[in-house]
Amino acid sequence: MPDNFDSVREYLKQQAELFPEDFYIRGGANDSSEKVAESRPVYNPEHPPYEPPVTGKLSAYEKQIHGCKRCPLGESRTKFVFGVGDKSADLMFIGEAPGYYEDQQGEPFVGEAGQLLDKILAAIDLTREEVFIGNVLKCRPPQNRDPKKSEIEECEPYLIEQINLVQPKAIIALGRVAGNTLLKKSTSLRDLRGHTWDYHGTDLIVTYHPAALLRNKKLKRPTWEDFQKIQRNYL
Ligand code: URA
Repeated sequence: MPDNFDSVREYLKQQAELFPEDFYIRGGANDSSEKVAESRPVYNPEHPPYEPPVTGKLSAYEKQIHGCKRCPLGESRTKFVFGVGDKSADLMFIGEAPGYYEDQQGEPFVGEAGQLLDKILAAIDLTREEVFIGNVLKCRPPQNRDPKKSEIEECEPYLIEQINLVQPKAIIALGRVAGNTLLKKSTSLRDLRGHTWDYHGTDLIVTYHPAALLRNKKLKRPTWEDFQKIQRNYL
């Protein structure tokens, strides 16, 4: 079972995400030492030892990279969490990183936040099998701490390749970490939400992470508005 630190840490992360100007935690929204650099390239094929997909097939890519040890999370994880769903989905949902249950089962969003995501998808007539669901990091950070910049840098090429292979109509970034990573920004969710961004020719929308909704019921309405927009524009 997750220890109590996990829930305290999740709560503090959420507060930092919602009120970045007023709140400081190490590794949180205001901690510039952990911020994603604005200038980081989309992906740098020279950055060793990156592995591009050999076959151009998503399932083959999973087999190719599931033993990844490019960063220390490769040693501490239980399971590599590649992502699940339709390999040519119109919608691709990207979270932050696996938590306790995801690490145990090797599947993204299977814990409480994932069950809420399933309900939100059902409300716009979708199942998790009809979309693709993944994360910025493929391995769980210990105690669900924020991903480190170095971990994001090592893992992001995998996400970029996944997006290139799936070729979704739209990417939905769940939360600040996914939004900032894909957009090469270092800003609050408030700034990221409410726009349709251009991610190298693909629409990108940033909305609240379902874990944030579990802690703050007031976020349900704006999230529902985001999902209605997604339904109207892409389904
Ligand atoms: N939170 C995430 O960001 N991803 C998961 O897979 C589970 C919880």
